[in-house]
Amino acid sequence: MDYKLIDTKVFGDETGHLISFEKGSNCPFDVKRTFYIFDTIPGKIRGQHANRNSEFLLIAISGSCKIKIDDGHTYKIVELNTPHQALYLGKMMWKDMYDFSYNAILLVLTNTNYDETEYIRDYKEFLNEVKNG
Ligand code: TYD
Repeated sequence: MDYKLIDTKVFGDETGHLISFEKGSNCPFDVKRTFYIFDTIPGKIRGQHANRNSEFLLIAISGSCKIKIDDGHTYKIVELNTPHQALYLGKMMWKDMYDFSYNAILLVLTNTNYDETEYIRDYKEFLNEVKNG
């Protein structure tokens, strides 16, 4: 399963903390786009799709949430609850984001420009593409 939890280096002193992501050190791709998910309604599930070309880094910069990652063969549930950790997801991973805490902010970095045609939003279609390429 193409995912990895990355522990980040925290730059800190008596005034506060800073975390950086840079290709070649703690980010495996060139970042083309970033977005953040916030004000998620309790009980709602975000995501529910796979991406043919996008890789992602997900960071809970505030609060917490759970990510269910599914490669079409098996699944794994990861909880993100610290800005000190990033979850890397490779291409063709089905993801559900849920159990967002109050005030959770999930920062997402990716290697692609937004392109709806690279999204698979139908789970059966995802399984079909995993099987047949
Ligand atoms: P969606 O992919 O459904 O969000 P999530 O993964 O959190 O469930 O996207 C929600 C809307 O935002 C949808 O209309 C597409 C739009 N959108 C963009 O225009 N650009 C982006 O980079 C992203 C991620 C979404």
